[in-house]
Amino acid sequence: MTNPVANLLFASSIFAARLCSFRAVASSSPRTFSTSIPSSSLPRSSRFKGKTFIVTGGTSGVGESIALQLAAEGASGVSVVGRNETRGNGVVSKLRDLGCEGLFIKASMDSVPDVQAVVPKHEERFGVAHGLVNSAGDTGRGWLKDQSVESWDRLFAVNARAPFILTQAATNSMIRSKIQGSVVNIITITSHGGQPYLCGYAASKGALSTFTKNAAHQLRKDRIKCNGINIGWTASAAEHKLQVEETGDEKWLEKAGEKVPFGRLVQPGDIAELACFLLSDKSGVCTGSVIDFDQMVIGGYD
Ligand SMILES: NC(=O)c1ccc[n+]([C@@H]2O[C@H](COP(=O)([O-])OP(=O)(O)OC[C@H]3O[C@@H](n4cnc5c(N)ncnc54)[C@H](OP(=O)(O)O)[C@@H]3O)[C@@H](O)[C@H]2O)c1
Repeated sequence: MTNPVANLLFASSIFAARLCSFRAVASSSPRTFSTSIPSSSLPRSSRFKGKTFIVTGGTSGVGESIALQLAAEGASGVSVVGRNETRGNGVVSKLRDLGCEGLFIKASMDSVPDVQAVVPKHEERFGVAHGLVNSAGDTGRGWLKDQSVESWDRLFAVNARAPFILTQAATNSMIRSKIQGSVVNIITITSHGGQPYLCGYAASKGALSTFTKNAAHQLRKDRIKCNGINIGWTASAAEHKLQVEETGDEKWLEKAGEKVPFGRLVQPGDIAELACFLLSDKSGVCTGSVIDFDQMVIGGYD
């Protein structure tokens, strides 16, 4: 790291880094960046054969990684939800290459009508979904002293209200069709409290965490699972760009890796593995769990 601000960020633990500005890299290999997943590196199986899924935030990063792993493990259809048509169609074409039908659903998660249209659009093409992944997230900054009401409301709309609307619609359909489906919410380690500049973000993801448990409790007798993943510092192509722009240091990731206990940051592929486990029958009766996916332990002290 060449600039003092960046040095300070790295030195003051994972929570001090731009935890939530990371755009997930679509690669499972540590310390490398790529914007596309080589399909040869995806774990293969047929455990999702005949099943279909909705993945918000599927146009990029963690969501894209989950969508592609679902396809590599036999899913017959995946709806990729987001705003960016070019990236969305790009993911759809990668899904096809993996033998899975893809559908890009253009939707802004802060628009109620857009969000309400997602599940019907998926069902029109594929029938009732077997799983829903809420990965779209707004990581907007804001301090207590001056966060605007508008930005607070937008964060809650994208990070908490949209997952609520989608979970309600998707699971009502599952119940009607007697499908024992699964919902996975991509949350953040910041939901435990978070950095001061992420006031609204942390609170909105905290709401998603509580919603995950409440929904799981309500859905358990229909044998529908609902779990969450609290993601920690995840390497991403966008962050690489940001870091290189700010520090001029192409090797920032290597140095960041040296400062964390496991010698590397989390990769989107790591998260996709857990999400797919939670979406699969392998996770058995596991529901209402919010799993910290990080290498720093909440509540631990040196
Ligand atoms: N990467 C990390 O270090 C990290 C850490 C903690 C938590 N997370 C969480 O992980 C999730 C995925 O993030 P990521 O790292 O994969 O970032 P990313 O690559 O930037 O992906 C974010 C996704 O969310 C979608 N999205 C954002 N705002 C939206 C909106 N208003 N309407 C519709 N779609 C929207 C984007 O789609 P379009 O661009 O197509 O609209 C994109 O597909 C987020 O919920 C984030 O909070 C990530």
